[in-house]
Parts: sequence; structure tokens; C-alpha cells
Amino acid sequence: MPAHANAHSSPKRPTAEPGSVVGQPVMQRIIDQRFTVSYSFPVIFTRTVFDAGNTVLLDVMARSGHAQNRVLVVVDSEVLRLNPGLSASIERYGETHKRVMRLVAPPFLMKGGENCKNDRSEVGRIHALVERHKLCRHSFIIAIGGGAVLDAVGYAAATAHRGVRLIRLPTTVLAQNDAGVGVKNGINAFGRKNFIGTFAPPFAVINDSVFLESLPARDLRAGIAEAVKVALIQDREFFDFLYRERTGLSRFIPAVMENMIFRCAELHVRHISRSGDPFESGSSRPLDFGHWIAHKLEELTGGDIRHGEAVAIGIAVDSLYSHGVGLLGDPDLHRILTLLETLGFELNHPALPRLDPEAALAEFREHLGGALSIPLLEGIGRKVDAHRIDIPLMKQCIAMLAEPVPSKGLSRG
Ligand SMILES: NC(=O)c1ccc[n+]([C@@H]2O[C@H](COP(=O)([O-])OP(=O)(O)OC[C@H]3O[C@@H](n4cnc5c(N)ncnc54)[C@H](O)[C@@H]3O)[C@@H](O)[C@H]2O)c1
Ligand SMILES: [Zn+2]
Repeated sequence: MPAHANAHSSPKRPTAEPGSVVGQPVMQRIIDQRFTVSYSFPVIFTRTVFDAGNTVLLDVMARSGHAQNRVLVVVDSEVLRLNPGLSASIERYGETHKRVMRLVAPPFLMKGGENCKNDRSEVGRIHALVERHKLCRHSFIIAIGGGAVLDAVGYAAATAHRGVRLIRLPTTVLAQNDAGVGVKNGINAFGRKNFIGTFAPPFAVINDSVFLESLPARDLRAGIAEAVKVALIQDREFFDFLYRERTGLSRFIPAVMENMIFRCAELHVRHISRSGDPFESGSSRPLDFGHWIAHKLEELTGGDIRHGEAVAIGIAVDSLYSHGVGLLGDPDLHRILTLLETLGFELNHPALPRLDPEAALAEFREHLGGALSIPLLEGIGRKVDAHRIDIPLMKQCIAMLAEPVPSKGLSRG
């Protein structure tokens, strides 16, 4: 008989677990583990990053401490389709600067838009490239694309070898002023947005405004929603700027857009470092103003609505609700709705009647990880957290989106 069978058949001894002896003190020994990791990364604004004379990328890599760096470039398929010369420019840049950066392969294409976050094989393909080209934790992945591609590549980079260095080159307004400058990544699963993901600060972010030149109006507009959001919760002066420049923004005048993107990115980056909760362990998510609805609408429409478009609707609803509970005055509400509509956002989306606020809030609570905390406005530039939402009032606010601006939720007379 094998030895283990003998051991198995020996008579059972009474359990000797310390906790199980009634009346005896519970034995415990603790090693208190504590350490701090500090992060820093630059968010650099430039133009034509792959021009041979532009040294921004090289200067970033110089911070790696290595003379030569192995680099894999991943590009959003739509960016490449609209900028057919981009691959050649990247390869030329790599060739010119091969002493600093060695491209391990030609730029690799990732499906642009939400597709890459819905299809897990996209992340698997990046992992396979990391393995095939022997990238290590000191190598670089450069992700060029919209927020979705940055999220998916960021997740792949963070999980391959437990973290390959990531440089983000955001190519949409929303990615340059919000999604690309933060510390999160993720993909969708089980029909839920960002269900899988990590907190992983990038090595650097490089915002090249030339990428925005191929963006359609829809995506130029969508990104402005995040600027409106951050202005509303943090910075009245920035809101005044957006309101004053609303016509220029609605026409996507480059100089106005660039100022909007810079200030929005700056507020986001500062919030992350100064909020005291960069990895969102608490339940409060100030930057998620308007987002509980946004995430739900994105799910309900299967990704047909852009994140920024959904955020604009979420901002409108939560502003109407803030007004409904007496936190926000008539003039402020009017200015917020006027700004969103002048920018061209469609606030009365056909998916709204299918939105069940009770279920959506319950899911959002789960996403937050515990208590419900919904940012509301107690004035422009000042947010306050609500831990209870009046569902009938919320339903009324959602229904109000079907009305024209002057009558939306404003006291009449
Ligand atoms: N990680 C975060 O902190 C964070 C924050 C906010 C949003 N997000 C995520 O970001 C995503 C939304 O990002 P988005 O608004 O950039 O949309 P997106 O990435 O879906 O891009 C929109 C479309 O534009 C295309 N595109 C990208 N750059 C282009 C360019 N320069 N010219 C022409 N077309 C271009 C894309 O291929 C896509 O088809 C969502 O998945 C959202 O969840 C993440
Ligand atoms: Zn957002």
C-alpha cells in the first residue's frame, strides 16, 4: 500500500486549531507589511511626434536609464486607415533613432473603438507579441489610438510580465484630455464596461494635436463632454471659459480646442495626484460625475453611443437632478444645458426610455465597491456626494431630456 494511503487511514486526532478551543485566547501572529511606491509620469503636448527632428519620444525613453530600448508599437486601425503614411513615419523614426529605440516589429494594428475592449483575443494578441519578441519589463509598448485602444493595450501591457512600460499617444480629444492621461486601463466582459482591468500608471503620455486632424466631428465633440464634466465639479473659471468659447468649440476651432484639452488634462492629472485616492479605493469617485448613466447607456446601445456622448447625457441628467433637489440654481442649470446643446450634443437619446435608474444605480454601486456615492453639483465648480437617490425624481429628470432647453426642469413664471 502506498505511504499516503496508510497516513489517510490512521485514527483522527482531535482538532488542535487554537481558535476552536472555547475559552482560550485566539492565537494570532501578525507581520505588519507597509511600503509606499511613488509614481511620476509626464504628459507632454507636442506636434508631429514622428518627425525625425522631434525628440520628445527620445527624451522620454532617456528616462529609462538604458542606452537602447526595445519597442513595440500598437496602432488603432482607424488612425492608420486615415493616416496611411503613419506606419512608414514610425519605421523611419525608428530607423533614424535606432541607437535609442529598436522597433521589434512593424507597427501592429489593433481594432479601433470599443471592439478591441469587447474581444478578448485582441489583448491576447499583444501578450503573444510580447512573448514572441522577447519584450521584458524594461521594454516599451507605445499605444497610439483612441481611449478604447489605450485601455486594451494598457491592460495587455500591465499584465504581460506583470507590467511592461507603456507610453500612450492618445489620438482622440477624449483620450488626450481624459482617458489617456489617467492611471486606469481595462476591457469589457459579461456585457459590462471595464469589468476587467488594472490601475497602472503609464511611463509617459504624449499628446500630439496633429492626430486630431483626422477625427470626425462626432469624436471631436464627444471629448468636450469630459471637459464640461471636470469644469463642473472642480473649476468654475474653466466652465466660464467653455461657456464663453462655446461657439468656437462647437466649430472645433483648433486653438480653442487645444486650450480646452490642456486645461482638462491638467485638472484630471492633478485630481489623481492630489485627491489622496489615486487608485480609487474609496467609494467616492468625483471624476465619475454623470458616469453612472453614461456607463449604462454605453451598455444599452452596445457601444453605438460614444463615451463622451453618453457622458454629456449623464451630465445633463445629474445637473437636472441637482437642480431638482434644490442644490443647483436656475441660472446655473440653464448655462449647463445651453452649453451642452450649443456644443451639439443630442441629449434626448432613443435608448433613454430603456434605462432603469434603480438597476443602473445598483450596478454602479457594485462597480464602486460598496456604498453608493453619486457626485452632484451644489453650484458650478462645486460637487457634493449623494448617498441616496430619489428614484421617481431621477425618472422625471431623465424624461425632461425630451423637452427643449428653456423649459427643462426650470421653475416657470
Ligand atoms: N482608462 C480611463 O481612465 C478611461 C477614461 C475615460 C474613458 N475611457 C474609455 O475610453 C474609451 C472611449 O475613448 P474615445 O472616446 O477615444 O473613443 P474610441 O477609442 O472608441 O475612438 C472612437 C473612434 O475613433 C477612432 N479614432 C481614434 N483616433 C482617431 C483619429 N485620430 N482619427 C480618426 N479616427 C480615430 C477609433 O478607431 C474609434 O473608431 C471608452 O472605452 C472608455 O471606457 C477610459
Ligand atoms: Zn469618462
